[in-house]
Amino acid sequence: MYTTRTLQDEILRLKKEQDICILAHAYQSQDIWEVADYIGDSYGLSLEAAKAGQQTILLCGVRFMAETVKILSPQKKVLLSHPMAGCPMAEQITASQLRDLKKQYPGYTTAAYINTTSELKTVCDVCVTSSSALQIIRNLENPDILFIPDCNLGAWIAAQIPEKNIQLVQGGCPAHAGISAEEAVQARRLHPAAKLLVHPECLPEVSRMADYAGSTTGIMDYAKNSTAKEFIIGTENSIVQHLQFACPDKQFYALSKDCVCSNMKLTTLMDVYHCVCGTGGEEIILPEDTMQKARHCIDTMLSLG
Ligand code: 13P
Ligand code: SF4
Repeated sequence: MYTTRTLQDEILRLKKEQDICILAHAYQSQDIWEVADYIGDSYGLSLEAAKAGQQTILLCGVRFMAETVKILSPQKKVLLSHPMAGCPMAEQITASQLRDLKKQYPGYTTAAYINTTSELKTVCDVCVTSSSALQIIRNLENPDILFIPDCNLGAWIAAQIPEKNIQLVQGGCPAHAGISAEEAVQARRLHPAAKLLVHPECLPEVSRMADYAGSTTGIMDYAKNSTAKEFIIGTENSIVQHLQFACPDKQFYALSKDCVCSNMKLTTLMDVYHCVCGTGGEEIILPEDTMQKARHCIDTMLSLG
């Protein structure tokens, strides 16, 4: 029988022996964080994937993240920690729907949130993450931008870059978009000294009330570097626990008890163990043609970001 600690020791031993790099998204659980080589937001994971020296990369997170890793390192073996871990937002628009949409906006640059399938990325000009979106969209020469699929993130970008004409489509993250402005008002009332930190996938009326809106890593850095002692966290609730571990002298409150990503929660430490043993996870295999076409939009993100 294993305990968390002995299982972690075995994973650390096996990943070294098997030359595996473990990349974990910030929404993974604390026990997985402790065995990862790198933890970060979607942009950070893409950067690390591009420079990892190991021959196998295990991505603990959701499918679009593992696909991004595979596209950046086609010669490597890339494993997704749990075959069922997808992001519902990534499936909200198909490539053929996007082709039709683009006909309605001729001359526009199509910018996709990275939370999209690799197939969808083949029909986009550039992709962005929450931490790189403002810089990338500002750096685009074209003032006309079609932004898919998260209309909340898109509205947050548009509010800060009024000089661009940004067309949005209906889509978004069910977990973040479920947080209401009333919950934010209530949380502020309960914790008047706390800073409100939210992810820009939240509704615009929630992001507007925040002291800071940014990526998962941005939220964590803000809380760590702030002189404030209390924080209301408006993103996936695992970040509350990670911040409690990182800053034991500060108080963290979840903005909503329902901001939980069931897909991010699928991967367990035992799944990670099975992956490093070679008996778990799913190897990401993508058609050569899809990888080549989707790479353009990821490379543009990395060069402009
Ligand atoms: P980050 O890029 O901020 O990690 O966001 C990814 C995500 O899926 C948030 O819901
Ligand atoms: Fe997708 Fe939302 Fe989960 Fe992020 S939190 S992976 S956007 S469903």
